[in-house]
Amino acid sequence: MQKNHNIPTPGPIPRHVVIIMDGNGRWARRKNLDRLIGHREGIKSARSVVRTAREIGIEYLTLYAFSAQNWKRPGEEVLALMDLLREYLSNEGEKLLAQNTRLNAIGNLSNLPQDIRELLGRVMKMTEECNSLTITLALSYGGREEIINAVNSIIAEGEKKPVSEKDFQEYLYTSGLPEPDLLIRTGGEMRLSNFLLWQLAYAEIYVTKTLWPNFRRRHLLKAIANYRNRERRFGLTGEQIREKGR
Ligand code: IPE
Ligand code: IPE
Ligand code: MG
Repeated sequence: MQKNHNIPTPGPIPRHVVIIMDGNGRWARRKNLDRLIGHREGIKSARSVVRTAREIGIEYLTLYAFSAQNWKRPGEEVLALMDLLREYLSNEGEKLLAQNTRLNAIGNLSNLPQDIRELLGRVMKMTEECNSLTITLALSYGGREEIINAVNSIIAEGEKKPVSEKDFQEYLYTSGLPEPDLLIRTGGEMRLSNFLLWQLAYAEIYVTKTLWPNFRRRHLLKAIANYRNRERRFGLTGEQIREKGR
């Protein structure tokens, strides 16, 4: 059969997908339920997305679970979110291990309750040899805080030479992770909400109105299919990119 050169073949699947899991509260409100039920349902979405990501060969999946700014929510909601995190970490270790999935975390983890830090440490240790998918939970994470933290670490080390981008990245929470290829935001808001400000420089952005508790396997597959039909340019011309791809 003759190849039709006018129809571009889909590109590779993204190596690193990051998700702003938003809309739990709205999902609950629409059903006249407590926000907490929305957060609880959202865990099911996270499980579905982790499983699917591994199946389709995504190597890194980073989930924005709790922002540095989310501490300012009503005390009751913060406590409920911490309880859910506790529950997730207590039950998930074996499941992740069975899926050869490694758990990692970024953010100002020292702000988390001590027992959660211990649980997190335990699951991370348990899954450290897993190598099919790495999931990174962003907890008490803020992009500006991360950059300031990096700058302060460099100052504290007394570095006198100019710092390169490559050096700088080593001081971010994400050192060791590849750059995100695709950012997915559920819940329809067109904003970054302080997520991975440095790292998202050239990521493709996909926003869906689907609320996080409704976002499951098929929604992820749709986002990936959409990504594969995009042309990434990194500042070059379309011709240059197509020439490189040949
Ligand atoms: C995202 O859902 C979960 C967290 C921020 C912890 P929200 O709780 O922000 O839900 P909406 O945006 O109010 O619907
Ligand atoms: C972003 O959602 C943080 C997480 C998904 C954890 P928010 O609901 O906190 O963001 P804003 O307030 O709408 O910007
Ligand atoms: Mg929100």
